[in-house]
Amino acid sequence: MDLRGIGYIGFETPDPKAWLDYGPNVLGMQVGKNPEGDGESVFMRMDDRRYRIALHKGKVNRMAYMGWEALGRIAFEEAAEILKENKIAFEYGDDELVTRRGVRNLLRFKDPVGYQHEIFYGQKFDPGTFMPGRPHTGFSTEARGFCHAVLMTPDFDKIDGFMQNVMGMNWYGWGAGKGKTGFYRTRHNDKTSHDVGYGMAPGRIGLQHIGIFVNNMRDVGETYDLVKEKELQLMMTLGQHTQDPHLSFYHFSPSGWAVETIAEHEPWPGDPFELNPEKLSIWGHELVGPILGPSVMTVEEMAQYDK
Ligand SMILES: [Fe+2]
Repeated sequence: MDLRGIGYIGFETPDPKAWLDYGPNVLGMQVGKNPEGDGESVFMRMDDRRYRIALHKGKVNRMAYMGWEALGRIAFEEAAEILKENKIAFEYGDDELVTRRGVRNLLRFKDPVGYQHEIFYGQKFDPGTFMPGRPHTGFSTEARGFCHAVLMTPDFDKIDGFMQNVMGMNWYGWGAGKGKTGFYRTRHNDKTSHDVGYGMAPGRIGLQHIGIFVNNMRDVGETYDLVKEKELQLMMTLGQHTQDPHLSFYHFSPSGWAVETIAEHEPWPGDPFELNPEKLSIWGHELVGPILGPSVMTVEEMAQYDK
C-alpha cells in the first residue's frame, strides 16, 4: 500500500474536555473546530490540517482508530483492492463519516488483534492558519504525519504477517526497550524507525504511548518544564535514544496513555541493516513511572467496554 504514515488518530476517553487545557497549554497544540452536530469531541491541530488528534467521549481511555494517509485517490483505490485480495472485511465511510473526518474518502477495517484502522486520502487543510496554543516552534508533521503509536498486542505473530503482507509496511526491527516491540513503517517513511509499534504482551491490549515530533529541542524542554509544573506523571525522564537520533521524554496525558515528545538532534542516518542496540538510550530515559498506564489492560477487561 502507498501510505504516507498516520495522518490522524482518534481516541475514546471519558473526558475529552481535559485536552482543551492540556493540548494547547502543555503540548502546544491548537484546539480545532468541531464538525456540526458533534459538540462533545475535542480536536487538536498540529499543523495546517483540520486536525491530527481527535478525542471522542467514550467509556474508557483507548485508541479508537488510526487514520493511515494514502498518497492520493489512486493509492486509496489500490489499498481497497489489496484488502479485497486478502479477504479483509472493510467498509467505506458513509457521507456523514467522511464529512466528520474532513477527508475525500475513507475505508475502515480491523487488524487481526482488533485495533481499528482507517485509510483515507485528502484531509482538509488551510495553509498558514496553525497557531500553537502556547509559544512553540510547531510539529514536524510534513514527512511524518501525526507520528507514531505503540500498541500492546496479546498475539504478535498475527500482526506481523498482517502489517507486512497486507498493509505493505516495511519491518524496521525490534525496539530497544526491555519488552519485545516490533517496529513497522510505511514504505514512504524514510525518516523514522516506526509509524506503529506492536508490543508483545500476552493477555494484554491497549495503547502504551503516542510519539509526536516537535521542531526544536526547546519545545521538548519547555514541555518538560510544563509537565513538571502541572505535576503530570512522568514515565521516563529526558534522554537520547540509541536507535534513533532523538531526544525525548515520556509523560502521561490526562487520558492514561503516555506521550513521547521528540526532537531530532541529528538528521536521520538511514538504516542499511537491522540495528541491535546494547541499550534503549545513550543517556537519560530513567524510568520513574509505570511503563504501562491504565490504557493498557487485560483482554477481558477491554472486552467489557466493547459491549
Ligand atoms: Fe515512541
